[in-house]
Amino acid sequence: MSESNFFSDDPEYVQYKDNTNINHLPGDYGIPVLGYTLSYVQRPYQVIDQNRKKYGDIFRTSMTFQKFVMALGPEYIKQLTLDRDKVFSSRMGYHAPLKHFFEGGLLMRDFDAHKFHRRIMQTAFKTAAMRNYVDTMHPVIDKQLDDWGGMREFEFYPHVKELLLDVGAKVFLGLDLVDGETQRLNDAFLAMGDGTLAIIRKDWPGLGLAYRKGMNGRRYLDRFFNELVPQRREGEGTDMASFFARETTEAGDVFPTDVVSKHLIFLLLAAHDTTTAALTMACCYLAENKQWQERIREEVRTIIADKGVEDAGGNRIAFDDLATMEDTGNVFKEIERLHPSVPAFMRRTVKETEIGGYPIAAHTPIQVSPIYTHRMEEWWSDPHSFDPDRFKREEHKQHPFLWAPFGGGAHKCIGIHFADMLFKMVMAGLVMRYEFSFADGQGFPDAIQHFPFPKPQNHLPLVLKKL
Ligand code: HEM
Repeated sequence: MSESNFFSDDPEYVQYKDNTNINHLPGDYGIPVLGYTLSYVQRPYQVIDQNRKKYGDIFRTSMTFQKFVMALGPEYIKQLTLDRDKVFSSRMGYHAPLKHFFEGGLLMRDFDAHKFHRRIMQTAFKTAAMRNYVDTMHPVIDKQLDDWGGMREFEFYPHVKELLLDVGAKVFLGLDLVDGETQRLNDAFLAMGDGTLAIIRKDWPGLGLAYRKGMNGRRYLDRFFNELVPQRREGEGTDMASFFARETTEAGDVFPTDVVSKHLIFLLLAAHDTTTAALTMACCYLAENKQWQERIREEVRTIIADKGVEDAGGNRIAFDDLATMEDTGNVFKEIERLHPSVPAFMRRTVKETEIGGYPIAAHTPIQVSPIYTHRMEEWWSDPHSFDPDRFKREEHKQHPFLWAPFGGGAHKCIGIHFADMLFKMVMAGLVMRYEFSFADGQGFPDAIQHFPFPKPQNHLPLVLKKL
């Protein structure tokens, strides 16, 4: 069956250019062409804060080569994500950076088509499937974490990235990747990531353009997944690709291969860099805050001791333990507050609406900002400090969208529990094997890259002391 029965027809609103007629809003566009791009990518909180002090919670601006409306605070995150009147297109919000590379992914679909397609992922995220992923993941995590101990110079970021790529290959695709294959998949994703940021967006051969390389990456992945999906449909696998491939519509039809492939490609992007970012940023803070490192270690130790489980590594936590890991969970929450893996949510209006009393025309790009909202001084105590206990004190509960790293409404992250599970499993394995500190002469990384996903620019050199 072809994609034509699966909402492939483009809605009319995708044909329009962005509406940039927003001069009735306060704000300015910074320097010509670049706008605030350079300062924003380096210091997003400070740049937004300066603008807010001048113009208020809602202003027009130009960042990342796009003119748009910025709306700050939890109430606007709620308005855009819950989208009760079906005004905000996620597809067109993310169109500028993600089009071509991730089209067909869930975040690139809107309204009824999105609802129809989200069904494809439903079985893969049910409890029974999640329990099974824990068992699949343990040996992969154990093997790599054991290997880390023998390394003399250890940079956390590339190693955790590789670990999560292996976990992803196994859990998402049901594959044991041989070395070359892992590398090719990784390269394709990296090229697509660079392609999304390319200024010259032309698929021309021979010029070494980043956009072209990204499109080549996409073509490679299309071929790879278009071969994999029919195999998964025939089998009885319990990996995500198998669940997606066997899922049916309400009418009982399986989803076409190219449709499933597109969802898998987007899923890997959504799952991989976000969790890599969270674990890396967490280790920056835990290398600095040894008390918190010890608190997590003690939490895991107690869980394992209570159960009397002494299996292969002696470090394994079971699916049912995850919900009891309050301190580790609060560290994850605090990291997503300080350095949200998805720093901004983008939408574009499909019809006229109103934001904070300002009329907004159709086709206007709008951004809401977890990276700013998560540090607003009027809501959070000592907002720039690392304090996971703030979640015990329930600071985040003052407003349902004050802490919103996973979004909300129809597009709310489908992998939220998977991300929590992965974070806890890797962290438990790590703290039970090693005490970790910054490498000699290093401290908390000076430079953090915030976009497209947060990471320390020095890749976090650590010393791992075996326990
Ligand atoms: C720290 C980890 C993660 C964070 C912070 C995160 C955050 C988010 C956010 C904010 C959105 C919605 C964006 C928007 O509304 O504009 C989203 C969507 C999504 N996420 Fe995650 N994510 C994480 C991990 C994962 C994982 C592990 C998976 C899969 C296993 C996943 C799969 C998806 C998918 C498929 C969507 C699109 C949902 C839709 O459009 O209906 N994410 N994520």
